[in-house]
Amino acid sequence: MAALDPSRLVAVIGSGAMGAGIAQIAAAAGHPVMLFDVKPGAAVTAIGDIQKTFGKLAEKGRISAGAAEAAGARLTVANSLAELAGAALVVEAIVENLDVKRKLFRELEGVVGADCVLATNTSSISVTSIGAALRDPSRLLGMHFFNPAPLMALVEVVTGLATDPSLAALIFDTAAAWGKSPVHAKSTPGFIVNRVARPYYAEGLRLLTEQAGDVATIDAVMREAGGFRMGPFELMDLIGHDVNFAVTRSVFDAFYQDPRFTPSLIQQELVNAGFLGRKSGRGFYRHGEGATVPRPQTEPAAPLPVRVVVWPAGPATEGIAARLRTASVPFATAETPDSDGRVLGVDDAAVYLTDGRSATQRAHDNDHRDTVLIDLALDYAKATRIAVTRSDRCSVTAYGAVVGLLQATGFAVSRLDDVPGMAVMRTVAMLANEAADAVNQGVCDAQAADIAMQKGVNYPRGPLAWADAVGLGHVMTVLDNLARSYGEDRYRVSHLIRRKVWSESKFHQ
Ligand code: NAI
Repeated sequence: MAALDPSRLVAVIGSGAMGAGIAQIAAAAGHPVMLFDVKPGAAVTAIGDIQKTFGKLAEKGRISAGAAEAAGARLTVANSLAELAGAALVVEAIVENLDVKRKLFRELEGVVGADCVLATNTSSISVTSIGAALRDPSRLLGMHFFNPAPLMALVEVVTGLATDPSLAALIFDTAAAWGKSPVHAKSTPGFIVNRVARPYYAEGLRLLTEQAGDVATIDAVMREAGGFRMGPFELMDLIGHDVNFAVTRSVFDAFYQDPRFTPSLIQQELVNAGFLGRKSGRGFYRHGEGATVPRPQTEPAAPLPVRVVVWPAGPATEGIAARLRTASVPFATAETPDSDGRVLGVDDAAVYLTDGRSATQRAHDNDHRDTVLIDLALDYAKATRIAVTRSDRCSVTAYGAVVGLLQATGFAVSRLDDVPGMAVMRTVAMLANEAADAVNQGVCDAQAADIAMQKGVNYPRGPLAWADAVGLGHVMTVLDNLARSYGEDRYRVSHLIRRKVWSESKFHQ
C-alpha cells in the first residue's frame, strides 16, 4: 500500500511536546497540517515555535530557506474540531486519560469523513479500549512517536483488536514516507519499547539493591563495556523517577503483577523523597550548579602476569586476543575449548565469561578457588572498560594478575561484587528475554523488536541480534542460572529462546 498523499490534510490534536513535534514532521513531509488545542493560544504558540525551528534548520543548512518557509506556511491553527472536517489523518496527542481520549474521538467521528484515519499517540493506554468508544472502531490505531518526535526515528504502529490491518499498512508506509522507522505492534501493555526496555532499569536497580557496585560504576560499565549511550541511573535521572516509576508500575499492573516487571523499592524511595532526577536537582546523582560527578570505581594499576593462555571461547576470546597482540603481550593459545568455557588462564587464575552463576559458585563447581569472571562487552576489541568479579576464595595475587593483564590491553577495570550474571550480560539477557516473549506472544516480529529498541531508545544493538551474537545457548544458560540463583519467576526463560536453542536456529538467520 502507498503512503498518504502529501496533499492530504493531517490534523494534530494537542500542541504540547509531542503534538508540536508530530505537526512539525507532517509539515516537513509536505502535508498541510492543522493543529488544535483546548488551551487558548497554545496552538498559535506551538506553530510559532515550529516555524522558528524550521528557520534554524535553514540557517544550519539542513534545509533550504524556501523549504523552511513553505513548511512553516503549511501549518495552521484550528479553532474548533469542526475545522478538521477535511482531514485524511488525525493524530491525537492530548492528556493521557482514557475517558478524555474516548470523548475526543467520539466527537471527531461526527466531524471527519468516513475515510479519515484516527490515530492516538498514547504510550500506555490500550488502543483497543480507546477504539471501542467509536461507532467504527476499525478506523482507530496507535501512531506512537518517541520524544523528541522530530529527532527519534521510531514510530510504533499499534493495532487494536478491531483495527483494520489495511489502515495499519497505510500508516506504516506514511510514517516511512515521513522519514521515520515504523514497526508494527499489537496493542498490549507498553507496546514494544516501554515493555522490552523495563529490564534496562530493573536489572540496574537490582544490581544496586544487591550492592554489586555504586551508580557511577554500574553506569560506566553499561556505557563503556555495554555500548549504551547512557547508564540506567543517569537515564532514569533524565526521564524523571516519577515518570519512570509510574510507567514501571503501570506495566507491572497491566501484566497482572508478573514478577518480571516488579518495581524497585529504591525507586519508590526516590519518589517518596522527591528526588525526581535532573528536574528536581537530585536523583541518583546531584544535578545543577556545583554538582560533582562521582567517578566510577576503577582498579589501581596492577602488575603484568607471567603466564597467559588464551582459550577458544567465542567473541570474548577473539577480542581480548586481538588486544593482547596490539599491546604486544605474549600469550600461549589452547587448541581445544575448556569444558566450562574458560576464556583465559592468567598465572593461577581461571577467567570465564559470566554464565549467570556467581564466581564463588563457579569456583566451587570447578574446584578452583582462583576464579575470576568477566562481564559481557558489546565489542571486546573496542570497549574501554570491563567489569570483573572474583570468587570469595580467590587470592588477591591471582586476581591482581587478571586485572594487570586486562589493564595492559587498555581496559579500565571495574570490580563488581560477586552477583550472578554481572551487569551487561544480565541486562542484555533480560532485554532479549523480554523481546523474545513479545515475539512469542505475537506483539511484534523479531526485526521490529530490534528496530524498536535501536530507534526508540538508541540501544547500540537490537537485543535479539545481540543475543544471537552472544549465542542463544549461552543466554539461556545465563537466565536459567539467574533463575536458579534467585529462585524467582522473574528470570524464567522465554519459551521462544529455548525453542531456538533446541532447533539450532537464531532470531536473525
Ligand atoms: P503535554 O502535556 O505536553 O501536551 C498535551 C496538550 O494537549 C496540552 O497542550 C493540552 O492543553 C492539550 N489537551 C489536553 N486535553 C485536550 C483536549 N481534550 N483536546 C485538545 N487538546 C487537549 O503532553 P505530551 O507530553 O505532549 O503528551 C501527549 C500524549 O503523547 C500523551 O498521550 C502521552 O502519553 C503521549 N506520549 C508522550 C511522550 C512523552 O515523552 N512526553 C512520548 C510518547 C507519547
